[in-house]
Amino acid sequence: AATLQDQEKAQAGAAALRWVRDGMLLGLGTGSTSAQFIRQLGVAVQAGLKVQGTATSLASEALAREVGIPLVAPRRGLRFDLAVDGADELDGQLRLIKGGGGALLREKLLETASDYLLVVVDSSKVVPTLGRFPLPLEVVPFALPWVLDAVEALGGAPVVRMAKNDATTYYYSDQKNLLVDCHFGQIADAERLATQLKTIPGIVEHGLFLGLAKAAVVVRGGEAFVLRP
Ligand code: A5P
Repeated sequence: AATLQDQEKAQAGAAALRWVRDGMLLGLGTGSTSAQFIRQLGVAVQAGLKVQGTATSLASEALAREVGIPLVAPRRGLRFDLAVDGADELDGQLRLIKGGGGALLREKLLETASDYLLVVVDSSKVVPTLGRFPLPLEVVPFALPWVLDAVEALGGAPVVRMAKNDATTYYYSDQKNLLVDCHFGQIADAERLATQLKTIPGIVEHGLFLGLAKAAVVVRGGEAFVLRP
């Protein structure tokens, strides 16, 4: 049976269709809420909507293909009119923590190359201050021990993500990197932390998405609200 959270995710994904126009090039997000959007978009494409997309993960790419959304490969100069993606957390300024689904690197690439990032979330994702959800990092495997030391030196408690069905093997990203989930407690200065993480060798990308989201559709109790930064 669908939980209330599932219903909110489905409603948020469907609401995002209102931002889509004929002819758009779209960035397709990752996670269960994005999957709802991709499915709804597929229905619209079957009904005649002309759009193309690039996916932020192999999973979303497979889903887009299954529902008939034409895909474009990355190329020089490629920019997206609109990216639609979920988030693990967002605050009142639409700063995000992403990467719970392991796709943060491609998400950041496509969303940085998008003119408009629309976030689609259920109400549980909205927080006053980021940091309840551990901040994911994508890390080159060879660099892992030094990255763990560096995160601890910044005051974080790092946990290497394990495979979903096998607690004895690491989880690997689509790029064959590791994910490290970092507990920092409440992140008072997200901009500063983002800058610090960027200087650590071996961290390919972090899950702080700052200044990227233009709007968020949040569904609470069956009602969709639009938040802006
Ligand atoms: C994927 O890497 C994440 O950034 C997702 O956007 C996030 O995990 C949201 O997932 P749900 O929509 O399934 O909650």
